[in-house]
Formats: sequence, structure tokens, C-alpha cells
Amino acid sequence: MKTVFSGVQPSGTPTIGNYLGAIKHFVDLQKDYRSFFCIVNQHAITVPQGKQELQHNTRSLAALYIAAGLDPEKATIFIQSEVPAHAQLGWMLQCIAYIGELERMTQFKDKAEGRSGVPGALLTYPPLMAADILLYGTDIVPVGEDQKQHLELTRTLAERFNQQYNDIFTVPETKIAGNGARIMSLQHPDKKMSKSDSNQKAFISMLDDEKTIMKKMKSAVTDSGREIRYDTENKPGVSNLLTIYAISKNISIEEAEQKLSSESYGSLKEETGAAVADILVPLQERHAELMASSELDEILDQGAETARLASSKMLAKAERAMGL
Ligand code: ADP
Ligand code: NA
Repeated sequence: MKTVFSGVQPSGTPTIGNYLGAIKHFVDLQKDYRSFFCIVNQHAITVPQGKQELQHNTRSLAALYIAAGLDPEKATIFIQSEVPAHAQLGWMLQCIAYIGELERMTQFKDKAEGRSGVPGALLTYPPLMAADILLYGTDIVPVGEDQKQHLELTRTLAERFNQQYNDIFTVPETKIAGNGARIMSLQHPDKKMSKSDSNQKAFISMLDDEKTIMKKMKSAVTDSGREIRYDTENKPGVSNLLTIYAISKNISIEEAEQKLSSESYGSLKEETGAAVADILVPLQERHAELMASSELDEILDQGAETARLASSKMLAKAERAMGL
């Protein structure tokens, strides 16, 4: 059985971008793969997080994974910092990564730009991500498009290690979601939707209630003209809504276009908001139940134990290969 690994940062509440581009696919993949889905809290601290907020967001993200359909019987769900092998192998991979290739990462450039006191870990975070993945002999990594470059680096580091030390790592494949791979900001459809956007209206969080979802959709930026057509170049706002609608309804973009082409922008927004709410409202009920239960903590304890065991062999091999 092949192995899948992926993660989401608890740096806020996940958005529908995280859901449609990543989490939804985790749920589909867990049936056919040996599955590891991580809450990558050590990645989140590459930018300052409030202590209590981080703890809350970590638990909440785990509950969202499960509420979205990840099944602890089929997938190992765990918190990164509870499995020390990640940081250990991350360090070793930092030792073989070049500063030049880390500086070329566009996410580093974006996050570091105009900032004084840039944390060193903003630069060295991709080798940690490589460690997350390589520890489990991962074959595929489902991610949104923004992670493509980091995954390329993961492959490079795996190949370099295999060549310089010992051929131990599986070189993983990147699995970018079809349509949901890049959900755009509702306010700036030329920018990706992100949970760390300072403008709350730019994203719909997985925990926004129905009223908020409808309100944010209503204020989504659309384009000039009034035609509803999928055309990312000339109609990025409308195309983004069509994409969100289509994936939420499990239909193709063409079908969504046909269904909505005679509508106004106003009803496109309303229909898209309703389609999103149909998914999120029941999921939020399950999330609330999990947050109030000790079941969640038991799942995470069990997940950490499974992940520690599963990663220990690869860590030992890597240490032996490097002479540690
Ligand atoms: P964020 O940028 O929102 O903080 P993360 O870095 O935690 O997100 O990414 C978690 C997963 O969600 C990754 O696989 C990432 O590619 C995916 N993702 C993030 N934003 C989007 C988006 N706007 N559209 C599609 N996928 C996304
Ligand atoms: Na599985």
C-alpha cells in the first residue's frame, strides 16, 4: 500500500481554500493509502503566534480534520511537535540544503519582504517540511499549488541525501488538486486565499457561520460586465466563485457555468454562499462536539504514538547514514 502524507498549519482557522485545495482530498485519499495527516504546529511558529491561540487552533484543526471526514481508523492524525523525529530529521536536512536554494523559495521572499527581524526559521522551514514527508516513506503529497516549489525542494533534498549518504528515502510525488488547487482571495482575486490575511472579508473560514458566509460572499469582488463565464484572465472574481461553487457541489466547472450562466452576479454569490454553507454547517456541528470531548485528545495521543513508531525507523536509518 502506498503512503500519503500532508499537513496544515494551525496558524489560524483554515479557510475554504485549505479545505477545497487540501483537506477534502485527504478525506478521499485515506481509503486507498497508508495515511498520515499532521497538524504542523512547528511550521506555524515560524511567525509569532499567541500561546493560547496556538494551542486552541491546534486542537481545533484536528477537530476540523475529523469533522471533514478523516477517520482515525483509516488515517493517523497527529500533532507535529509530539513526534520529535520531525525536528531531528529537519535539522539533518538543513545540513544538506543550500542557502541559495532556500532563498529562492517564493514563500520565503513573500513572508520576509519588508519585515525587520526575519526569523531564521522562515528560511529553514522547507527542510523541516521535507523531513515531515520523508520520515514516512511517503509516495504522494496532496497540496495546493502554492506548495509546489517546497515539494520540488523536498524531492531535491531526498535525492541529494540518497546520493551523498545512502539510498533510503522515497522521492515523493506532488499531487496538486485539480480545480481547487488555488482558491483566490474574495477581495483580491489575483491573490490566493489565506487564513493569515489581515482582511477578514478576503476569506471564508471553515468555522464562519452561515450568516457570515453569506455576508462575505455578498461583498466578494466580481468583475466588470455581467456575464457569468469561466475566464481566469479576464474574469478572475467570477471564475473563483464558479470554482468554489463547482467543487462544493461536486460538479465540473462546465456544469457550474451552464447552471449559472443566465443568473446575475448577485445570485451567483448567493448560490455559491449557500453551496459552501451546505458543507460547512454540518461539519461545524461535529467540530463543536469534538472540541467538547476527550475523544479528540485520545485520537491525537494515539496518532502521535503511531507516528512516533512509524517514523523512528527512518530517523535511525538517516542517522546511521550520516554517522550520528
Ligand atoms: P495558509 O496559506 O492558508 O496558511 P497552509 O500553509 O497551512 O495554508 O496550507 C495548508 C494546505 O492548504 C496546503 O496544501 C496548501 O497548499 C493549501 N492551500 C492553502 N491556501 C490555499 C488556497 N487558497 N487554495 C487552495 N489550496 C490552498
Ligand atoms: Na488510510
